[in-house]
Amino acid sequence: MERYRAKTGQLSHMARQQTAGEVVWFDETDSTNIQAKIYAENGCPHGTLFVADAQSDGKGRRGRSWDAPAGCNIYMSLLLRPEIKTSAAPMLTLVMAVSVAEAIREVCKAEALIKWPNDIVLHKKKLCGILTEMNAEASRINYVVIGVGVNVNQEHFSEEIAKKATSIKIETGIFTEREKLIQAITGKFWKNYETFLEAEDLSGMLETYNRLLVNTSREVRVLEPGNEYTAYAVGVNEKGELLVKTGDGEEKKIFAGEVSVRGIYGYV
Ligand code: BTN
Repeated sequence: MERYRAKTGQLSHMARQQTAGEVVWFDETDSTNIQAKIYAENGCPHGTLFVADAQSDGKGRRGRSWDAPAGCNIYMSLLLRPEIKTSAAPMLTLVMAVSVAEAIREVCKAEALIKWPNDIVLHKKKLCGILTEMNAEASRINYVVIGVGVNVNQEHFSEEIAKKATSIKIETGIFTEREKLIQAITGKFWKNYETFLEAEDLSGMLETYNRLLVNTSREVRVLEPGNEYTAYAVGVNEKGELLVKTGDGEEKKIFAGEVSVRGIYGYV
């Protein structure tokens, strides 16, 4: 914890209220997810938000790394201690995905969409990734960390990454104040989180999620370990499973876990 100097209260009073808890800010850290987990192990309370200007060891899904240059993007992790079934925790990633898409639409006036289960895309390229990590014992959750990386004002990506990823600035030409977007994301999240807790599923935001889902009514390539097939995406259900129809008319429910989908011609 000592290696990276943390400061609290860097966001305005208003932003702190929106986040519901303390904000721990780093000019640079290894990964806000790593820091959130260390703080959680030391008793840090529910609702604490960790934000970094840069990360030296940003973590992506499936063991990938996440590029996190300074001064341009959002790297943040929210620490939760939810009193819910462990099986309900993966849905929190989708709650965050809806919140990020809604916030980008409101603050940046950009038509952000969700690529199932939790990437945010704009003009078919990835703007944001979410990495949720849980620590639980038997049926009790100790904590959940939801890490969010949003490409906000970054102007250049390597040729390889640029095929798939973009930023709000590149797509809209407009600079976005990161603090304003963080405030909007956390504000939307807490509202959606309340709705989620009522049913411990996504039923209260299903209509919104499906409206924002880029995969709806499209053919997708389903990538299961050892099994790959093309199917027609119908939408998600209240558990966040993707509902698809295969070529022979079979209806399947896909649970995120180890499965991913992509468009038949590319990323979306
Ligand atoms: C993905 O692979 O799509 C998920 C990327 C998640 C990146 C964010 S940046 C803030 C937080 N800290 C990390 O190390 N990762 C997440």
